[in-house]
Amino acid sequence: MIAASTIQEVREQVAQWKRAGLTVGLVPTMGYLHEGHASLVDKAREMCGKVIASDFVNPTQFGPNEDLEAYPRDFDRDCALLEAHGCDLVFHPSVEEMYAPNAATYVEILDEMPKQLCGKTRPIHFRGVCTVVSKLFNIVQPDYAFFGQKDAQQLAIIRRMVRDLSFGVQIVACPIVRESDGLAKSSRNTYLNPEERQAALCLSKAVFAGQAAAEEGQRDAKALLKLMTGIIEAEPLARIDYVSAVDGETMLPADELTDGVLVAMAVYIGKTRLIDNFIVGGLK
Ligand code: PAF
Repeated sequence: MIAASTIQEVREQVAQWKRAGLTVGLVPTMGYLHEGHASLVDKAREMCGKVIASDFVNPTQFGPNEDLEAYPRDFDRDCALLEAHGCDLVFHPSVEEMYAPNAATYVEILDEMPKQLCGKTRPIHFRGVCTVVSKLFNIVQPDYAFFGQKDAQQLAIIRRMVRDLSFGVQIVACPIVRESDGLAKSSRNTYLNPEERQAALCLSKAVFAGQAAAEEGQRDAKALLKLMTGIIEAEPLARIDYVSAVDGETMLPADELTDGVLVAMAVYIGKTRLIDNFIVGGLK
């Protein structure tokens, strides 16, 4: 696997691969990789001639009081995982390589979409995500880019950005990967102490109960959210940020649980904010 730290190196390598007629898949990550990321690399490996993963903790998507400094990092471990899953190139730039000191150009969706769900408590988050993902698309020029369904709002926002700005990349959504007890895999799970790790199961329990109720025909969002909220509130270490049902594309509140509606949550377990979700009718 090639490890590249400059934009120039990536551009030259991709140009060579494209001249050879190979398709290129991009898996954008912030590192500290787990099996969720590995599943994205596997999918990219299946669909593309060459696979690039980016490994960059993007400062512009963290708010002033968020965990940018504490965000876990282990590049050597990431390389081992990527290599084992057949990644061809890892792009691991410095902050200075990605952002000039006076960088002041951002990509932002100017409607309600990024203000819903996670956007309510993380007002600049999706602007940072759209900006860095646009930069990665410009640097790598991938044919396909792979994102996890766990970050459902991010995925919807990136699809919208790709459409609005006519990026020539196809977005591929990959299902949530869970621990054997149900907890959705996340780099932030490492923040949890053993007691919090146990408490964190309230998220997946609520998701599974909600999913089962929707499958059994519950169509009333309010009733479903009450059921899910009750499960989370029964856990003393949990504090709900939101549990919501929204249109899967616009992220606007949905009253009726029709196919494609996203039921999503963010819950603090102690100081750690975790997210989970499901789509009514399943991921298409
Ligand atoms: O999902 C993530 O890890 C990040 O938001 C992403 C897409 C790599 C952008 O920094």
